[in-house]
Amino acid sequence: MDAFFHSVEGYLATVNQPGSDVLALQSISLITENLPKAVDDGNNIEARTALAWASTAAGIVESLSSCISHHSMEHALSAYHPDIPHGAGLIMLSVSYFSFMASKVPDRFVDIAKAMGEEINGATKEEQAISFIKGLKKLIKNIGMEDLSLSGFGVKEDEIEKLSRNAMDTMGGLFQVDPYKLSLEEVMSIYKNCF
Ligand SMILES: [Fe+2]
Repeated sequence: MDAFFHSVEGYLATVNQPGSDVLALQSISLITENLPKAVDDGNNIEARTALAWASTAAGIVESLSSCISHHSMEHALSAYHPDIPHGAGLIMLSVSYFSFMASKVPDRFVDIAKAMGEEINGATKEEQAISFIKGLKKLIKNIGMEDLSLSGFGVKEDEIEKLSRNAMDTMGGLFQVDPYKLSLEEVMSIYKNCF
């Protein structure tokens, strides 16, 4: 899921470019299809081979383009709670984070939803962008991660301001390539909606 988000974020970042776009959409598609298969059967060598390339491609996306503040927010989380695996932290933040971003800058979410094989419904771009959130929830469920929760890892709501400030202070560079500029209050509201 870390690789999946490297590609999603690299596709959304303002520093996206044609080379990273191609690799991002390909790896998003491969991960959506093959990660559930590999989780289901660790001996599925075809699925794992596809994922090996998808993960490599997503790493190239991260280098050609960039991750965005979803990653800053996760690093703050596992800095204060080092027992939270990075991928799990990203999953727990993702629905809240990308729902907010999709409401502000829907355009590129539609491409990502299509790469995930989602049917695109809705008259407006904002409505269509929700297809990505549907696909994301489905993928999380398909790999058995739908029950992850911040409170399950001992994260408390009164830490939200500290986490938000840490994300913006220590990894502020990623906020600068976000497709929508988040305020401290908005970062706090994204964390809050994860509980
Ligand atoms: Fe990562």
